[in-house]
Amino acid sequence: MRIIKTKDYDEMSRVTAQIIASEITLKPNCVLGLATGSSPVGAYQQLAKWCSEGKLDFSQVHSVNLDEYDGLTPDHDQSYAYFMRHNLFDHVNIDINNTNVPSGISGDNECERYDKLIKDFGGIDLQLLGLGVNGHIGFNEPDDHFSLGTHKVTLTESTREANKRFFSSIDEVPTHAYTMGVRDILQARRVVLVANGKNKAEAVKKAFFGPVTPEVPASILQYHQDFILVADEDALSLV
Ligand code: F6R
Repeated sequence: MRIIKTKDYDEMSRVTAQIIASEITLKPNCVLGLATGSSPVGAYQQLAKWCSEGKLDFSQVHSVNLDEYDGLTPDHDQSYAYFMRHNLFDHVNIDINNTNVPSGISGDNECERYDKLIKDFGGIDLQLLGLGVNGHIGFNEPDDHFSLGTHKVTLTESTREANKRFFSSIDEVPTHAYTMGVRDILQARRVVLVANGKNKAEAVKKAFFGPVTPEVPASILQYHQDFILVADEDALSLV
């Protein structure tokens, strides 16, 4: 595990964007595993800027997103498909047909389809992750075992609480979601997790400076051979 400590969110975003840009430059047809949420937005903005300046080319990149809320259509403004178009895909020269987000409306066959898609790509070259306040990655919530492939999960109250800021009330936050499993994530050749802010400090401490346990799903990343934690001073303030 390598840790890059940054001054603040902006520096964290720049460093993360540099790591992703290097991947695209070295392997123009790479498969990027992407995340939603507040943590990666700054990195996406930086990537979009470099792309608009002609410094970065997404034309051959393929992407697979981590997760999607159950029941939300891709045009719902809180769906992760919508988030990705709004925050990245509409601003870079990626072929939208090469982007993939799990479907929130296709039912249980979706899990098998999504895992086959990742397998057919030959796996993920670089997986970008955020960190839940409860230590989740994707929507792999604390449990008594690690999940394997893509599956449907019941969201914990702490996750629904953390995500209610995007909805008009907590009642509108879906109770379930589809997520890549921990095995899917661990099989990525490189994993980069971004974390910022004091509200992530406890989760960072438990996940990367404590025992590996499914109670803190991100802790399994300690075993990954090429895992980079990019975190700001606040997120690292308890270690
Ligand atoms: C999003 C995802 C989640 C978030 C995590 C942190 O696709 O998989 O695991 O990365 O909940 O969210 P933010 O960045 O909003 O704090």
